[in-house]
Amino acid sequence: MAFAVPRAYVDLCDLAEARGVPSTKYTQGLGVVQMAVAHPDEDPVTLATDAARRCLLAAGRDPSQVGLCIVGTETAVDHSKPVSSYLHGLLGLPSACRVFETKHACFGGTAGLLNAVDWLASGSARGRSALIVCTDIARYSVGTAGEPTQGAGAVAMLVSESPRLLELEPGITGCFSQDVHDFWRPLYRKDALVDGQFSVKCYLDALAGAYAEWQSLDTYKEPLVRTCYHVPYGKMARKAHQRRCQLDGMSEEAADSSFALQVEPSLALPAQVGNIYTGSLYLALLSLLHHQVKDLLGQRIGLFSYGSGCAAEFFAGRVMQTAPEQIARANIETTLRNRQRLSIAEYEELRRNDVHVDQRPSEQTVAASYGAALSSARKTPRFSGIDPRERRVYTVA
Ligand code: CAA
Repeated sequence: MAFAVPRAYVDLCDLAEARGVPSTKYTQGLGVVQMAVAHPDEDPVTLATDAARRCLLAAGRDPSQVGLCIVGTETAVDHSKPVSSYLHGLLGLPSACRVFETKHACFGGTAGLLNAVDWLASGSARGRSALIVCTDIARYSVGTAGEPTQGAGAVAMLVSESPRLLELEPGITGCFSQDVHDFWRPLYRKDALVDGQFSVKCYLDALAGAYAEWQSLDTYKEPLVRTCYHVPYGKMARKAHQRRCQLDGMSEEAADSSFALQVEPSLALPAQVGNIYTGSLYLALLSLLHHQVKDLLGQRIGLFSYGSGCAAEFFAGRVMQTAPEQIARANIETTLRNRQRLSIAEYEELRRNDVHVDQRPSEQTVAASYGAALSSARKTPRFSGIDPRERRVYTVA
């Protein structure tokens, strides 16, 4: 696994001051400290490419070994051409590779991951790996309650028959779905709309449903020593764990200490990046492994994925003995280093220009930019605008 974030962030104490609310509402009430903010030349394609490139490098794998590439996103850049096709070109994936994009709000990446597990189990992989990338830019309108729960970033995962980080448990997943309007984004909007308090309720109901099914299928009967939840903001994971402990018949006090032990270490990275929608659960997993991998060898970890609308799944994985070496290669500290702290005026200026970002003209055409990207696979591409035929152009600096 590896992740990528934009080069800038907003400190949420700055945002609280600008919005006239106590900073503790954001830092303690929501459990968020910073949120990543994308510049106009950063988009779900560039973030996905950066994360995928780091992931292949960390795993020591060549793009030619990838037979399936699924990108989960709810902030795609085109109604037809998937982010996975751009990724295919920018990474130089083989032509004999199944490539597509999945959407179900924040659940899209998990849909991709579990599809990859089934692809391996079916025998279609024939020794190849699946590359799953979750990539998003989370946006709510400026000044709304959702604003402090924004973020941006991508997480990439390589899935194969010989896992080195986490071994998933095929067939043992608990699902829950229902048709609700808790969070949505009409095709003509860049900012999401949300019924905030209702979305919290939907998340918790989905957790109860998915967890119950998972419990009925879990044949291992070994305890989950940690659980990572989808993290739209840290407090949501706390509410989720409390609900689960309640379902397990635990007292409130026991639930609090269980949260500190079993969930808190997974919230450090999400608190620094914000909600990255499809990748949030996996950023939590990276955070947990980064902080505690040596204590978790051979142990089971629960994973809960939630996508508004809604679909949810509870599943688990076992930490491999080789995980410490793998997680060290994810370069977590360096990914967050050297980020630029934006003032609120700078952030608001970026947001004002947001709507036009996809339509600015590029000085280059698609054909000219691609060759450069492919020959420079170690660099991160930038979105430079659209060419005269309205095709998105990515260049490598
Ligand atoms: N100091 C400390 N805590 C404070 C405080 C202060 N000064 N002031 C308020 N708080 C606490 C409140 O008590 C509350 O805590 P509890 O939830 O434990 O009661 C917390 O801060 C938040 O306060 P409010 O409920 O008043 O916050 P809000 O109504 O302004 O907004 C929100 C909260 C609804 C989550 C909003 O941020 C939002 O709409 N976010 C986007 C939607 C979202 O993330 N939903 C999550 C579930 S859906 C999902 O998971 C999919 C996805 O990724 C979007």
